[in-house]
Amino acid sequence: METTLPILSMSVAAAASAAAVFPKIKARVELSRAKHRSLAGHSKMSRRVAKLLPFYEFGENDYFACDGAPANIATQRKDGFFRLAALYAERYPKGRATTKEAADKISDLNFTESYRVPFQFSRLVREHLGTSTFVASSSGVTVTDVDGNTSYDLTGSYGVNIFGNDFYKECIEGAERRAHALGPVLGPYHPVILDNVQRLCRISGLDEVSFHMSGTEAVMQAVRLARYHTGRTHLVRFAGAYHGWWGDVQPGVGNPIPAHETYTLAEMSEKTLRVLRTRKDIACVLVNPLQGLHPNANAPGDSALVDSSRGGNFDRAAYTEWLKKLREVCDQRGIVLIFDEVFVGFRLAAGGAQEYFGVKADMVTYGKSLAGGLPVGVVCGRRELMRRFRDDRPADICFARGTFNSHPYVMTAMDEFLSRLASPNFLAIYDGLEETWNGRAQKLNRMMEDADLPVRFANFSSIWTVKYTTPSRYNWMLQYYLRAEGLALSWVGTGRLIFSLNYTDADFAEVAERFVRAAAKMKADGFWWHDGALTNKQIKRQILKEMLSRRLAR
Ligand SMILES: Cc1ncc(COP(=O)(O)O)c(C=O)c1O
Repeated sequence: METTLPILSMSVAAAASAAAVFPKIKARVELSRAKHRSLAGHSKMSRRVAKLLPFYEFGENDYFACDGAPANIATQRKDGFFRLAALYAERYPKGRATTKEAADKISDLNFTESYRVPFQFSRLVREHLGTSTFVASSSGVTVTDVDGNTSYDLTGSYGVNIFGNDFYKECIEGAERRAHALGPVLGPYHPVILDNVQRLCRISGLDEVSFHMSGTEAVMQAVRLARYHTGRTHLVRFAGAYHGWWGDVQPGVGNPIPAHETYTLAEMSEKTLRVLRTRKDIACVLVNPLQGLHPNANAPGDSALVDSSRGGNFDRAAYTEWLKKLREVCDQRGIVLIFDEVFVGFRLAAGGAQEYFGVKADMVTYGKSLAGGLPVGVVCGRRELMRRFRDDRPADICFARGTFNSHPYVMTAMDEFLSRLASPNFLAIYDGLEETWNGRAQKLNRMMEDADLPVRFANFSSIWTVKYTTPSRYNWMLQYYLRAEGLALSWVGTGRLIFSLNYTDADFAEVAERFVRAAAKMKADGFWWHDGALTNKQIKRQILKEMLSRRLAR
């Protein structure tokens, strides 16, 4: 894929001519060409750009008219905004007050409260559209907050909730009962661990297992082992893919220092395959299959929803083809292929993404749902890759520990989860799953189209993202209209809706109706007004202009 960043194009072109002469330069050029052209593909550049972006915000005058909307539309939008604010104030008094208090002391909440919408709009939203982070109970596919409001849960608990919250409550209850006699004794194992290991080996088709406390740690360990056994330094991750928050897998914005042993390459690209075929320093390739829904793009949070260019389209055949090619090149080059199934594992098929795509990995990481609602990370791998020592070099070990690894309560909860999954009756849940969720997405897309609303959905089974069909700077407002209709989204907003598989057709029909109602209200309030000529490109240019003028004004 050619880079369109001018500076990079120039340097790539200049280096290309020297490439025939100098193999090292050639390898360097090939590496540059295998990067995705977006900022997500250029970690160093994205960090530099992030440092340059100035803060600015819209005052009340331009807040509702930053796209050039006439005064009557701006008034309509403002009325809509403050109508929602009044509704929220009435509906979430306790939740709002406690959220505000907690955000002052809980750094995580302070961050998420500030990054729900593009920063230019954030202050007014924080002041007026605060809802409740505090929920009191869950049941079926709904959650009830501390003010007693019940909403449909579209958060999926970051992906943990595959089978419905009641399923996990049962797992945890059963786990507590069975681990109680041992209690929190660490070091020795609860005997149930053997069943878990056997089941995990069967599911993954791999030989050995290691237990960790989070998905991030599982990925760290898989990469460390790949480096140890190949004797090579670099990991390859794909542009936009999330693998936890450890430095080596987060080389761009968010990590204050560069990751020197990470190559971020374009996914679904022949140029990437060429790099894998030729470089000698690549230990492993990390794949997050969720990227099949939006290859080479970051997780689509609403804080980045500055226009309507957010993509999303899952092409199962094309992604399968890509994984097969990766498998082939990794085999040829002795590169360890790691599927990071922390998010999608157990959601697509009982055998996870390997089964779903029909492609085997050398190592697989799992997490999220696997411990029946308790925290966990797991690595499964081929025996020779999982070994942490060498027979002929006793001091050359690959270290990994963790105080809470293999915690008895986590192990019994995992057994509760895996034994339910193993029952033939339960397995029926995967029958026709893809068709069900594709059908639901199609249905809702049709409803939006029939109602002449600029909202569409792309889905990867039960994981959905919302796309917008007309250029707008206000799409991020939809999450607040949805909340008003009793649809609860996670802090990333409409970028990711995660359905649990216990949504019945009737539940889904109710959600669909509420979605359409929310979008219709947002439209009626003028948030999707546009003059007919506005394009996403113009919006981006406008934002660039705003930023430049703020920087120059300093
Ligand atoms: C694919 C993937 N890998 C790793 C992680 C990190 O897992 P954890 O948050 O448990 O550290 C996540 C979390 O969202 C993930 O989606």
